[in-house]
Amino acid sequence: MTTVLQAQDVFAGYGEVEILHGVSLAVGEGEVVAIIGPNGAGKSTLLKAIFGLVSIHGGSVQLMGQDVTNSAPDSIVRSGMSYVPQTENVFPSLTINENLEMGAFVRRDGLRDRLERVYDLFPDIASRRGERAGRLSGGQRQMLALARALMLDPKVLLLDEPSASLSPKMVDSIFDKCGDINRGGTAILLVEQNAKEALGFSSRAYVMAVGENRFEGESQSILDNEEVGKLYLGA
Ligand SMILES: Nc1ncnc2c1ncn2[C@@H]1O[C@H](COP(=O)(O)OP(=O)(O)OP(=O)(O)O)[C@@H](O)[C@H]1O
Ligand SMILES: [Mg+2]
Repeated sequence: MTTVLQAQDVFAGYGEVEILHGVSLAVGEGEVVAIIGPNGAGKSTLLKAIFGLVSIHGGSVQLMGQDVTNSAPDSIVRSGMSYVPQTENVFPSLTINENLEMGAFVRRDGLRDRLERVYDLFPDIASRRGERAGRLSGGQRQMLALARALMLDPKVLLLDEPSASLSPKMVDSIFDKCGDINRGGTAILLVEQNAKEALGFSSRAYVMAVGENRFEGESQSILDNEEVGKLYLGA
């Protein structure tokens, strides 16, 4: 399998405080990979570091063989990676349509076609395209955030807890939608608190704790691993 995203021995943090102490991971073309681990493990920080939002002071990030360590997010987006943050991932005062247009800010050509393709995938928000995003429910906002990230046809999508604080039914809808996106050929790197769902959805996973890799492997074998279950899955 071709590797689309590789983080190698990444050290990063906020100011003087180091949060990631040499974290590594890889995502293959079209693969779904999960990152699970307790609160404060550094999962969000890792996604931010990969996406150029937190500076990396050791190690490297490669996107389709190209070094993107500490590249600016807009250049990373142009190279084929999109990111949906854990919070504040839509502009509430803008309309749904404007949110999607913002998602394509680095590429204006073919905008109309890409908008229609994204609306085809998300009929529920398509019917409300002129409404302000702030009027959407939590689940619909999460759908809009996903839709926005797809506006540039990414090869890899970074998702930070897309199912957080949603109803069980909405959690299922979000995972279904992620499945559709993945079947379209986009690889997904998914951070989740909802470990069982994430392991059920992904093919491989990494368990992180205190800024380090703790376990990695096939998602099913992590689900079956008693030690991981006791420590991280509440089993
Ligand atoms: N902007 C920031 N400035 C300083 N420290 C931060 C900042 N953001 C996060 N941290 C700290 O970094 C550590 C890792 O946080 P991070 O958000 O990456 O964890 P997480 O694994 O995503 O947790 P959660 O499951 O709660 O989302 C925590 O100790 C947190 O307090
Ligand atoms: Mg987080």
